[in-house]
Amino acid sequence: MPLSTDGRPDASVGVRVIHAALDAGVRLLDTADVYCRSDQDLGHNERLVARALGEWNGPRDEVIVATKGGMTRPDGRWERNGRPEHLRQACDRSLQALGVDRIDLYQYHVPDPEVPFGESVGMLAELQSAGKIRWIGLSNVTVDQISAARRHIEVVTVQNRLNPFFREAVTEGVLSRCEDLGIGFLAYSPVGGGRLNRKLPSHPLVKQIAARHGASPHAVVLAWVLEQASNVIIIPGARTVEHTLDSWAAGDLRLDPEELRDLDEAEFDRS
Ligand SMILES: NC(=O)c1ccc[n+]([C@@H]2O[C@H](COP(=O)([O-])OP(=O)(O)OC[C@H]3O[C@@H](n4cnc5c(N)ncnc54)[C@H](OP(=O)(O)O)[C@@H]3O)[C@@H](O)[C@H]2O)c1
Repeated sequence: MPLSTDGRPDASVGVRVIHAALDAGVRLLDTADVYCRSDQDLGHNERLVARALGEWNGPRDEVIVATKGGMTRPDGRWERNGRPEHLRQACDRSLQALGVDRIDLYQYHVPDPEVPFGESVGMLAELQSAGKIRWIGLSNVTVDQISAARRHIEVVTVQNRLNPFFREAVTEGVLSRCEDLGIGFLAYSPVGGGRLNRKLPSHPLVKQIAARHGASPHAVVLAWVLEQASNVIIIPGARTVEHTLDSWAAGDLRLDPEELRDLDEAEFDRS
């Protein structure tokens, strides 16, 4: 997302960042039609991902690309649109932007209160039957919405926010419900998002644990997110090769049970 929204780097840098991730071993790229500046450049990030994959020398068929539909960016604002017709058109646009015949994982970006949830999810089922989507995911959903969707579709993943500043995925039960159902949980904004992640290097406990392991504060937080359940997949954003590789390294970082407990109990100021 940060490779295509406001403050994005040049596309050549974006390609280098994606290549660094793929070369390190990343095999899932999360994008969306609305990762762009406005409706005028919808699909910016999908086209960037397609270009990076096209120019990559590694095993393309190992890489899963997950995208989303159900939002728009009029004048740069983020708005919901879960109307079935919008989802149909958005899916066709994403297929074109990604340069594929079938999308690996298509996620309904966020429920639209103006549209009955079953109608939006029903369109995803139709797109899957038409062969345009392999797997279906949901994003920004509640436990009840997961149950409602499962009456229409097989839900393969749920993508909700999870970081030490915002733990509602844990406290409201979405994470454990997904784990029980065998649904993958994509933890978004795992280091707190574009603003809050900058607070991590000065957080006393995070700093202390990072120093003990010779790891970065961001890696410590990513290791904590990964430990929240067995089905967690982290999707950290980055605009530099350095940050990408640092986040990848978090997969090898093992925190002690006491460190995990201390992080569970620590305050993370969102102001
Ligand atoms: N489904 C949804 O509604 C939704 C909403 C938000 C995000 N997402 C998804 O989640 C992904 C990540 O979310 P996000 O970008 O909001 O938040 P994030 O991953 O928590 O934070 C991203 C920012 O943190 C910095 N960062 C990340 N790893 C770092 C590291 N190891 N060391 C130092 N800095 C690091 C990066 O700075 P630099 O830019 O300077 O590298 C980046 O801009 C997005 O790309 C998107 O795919 C989904």
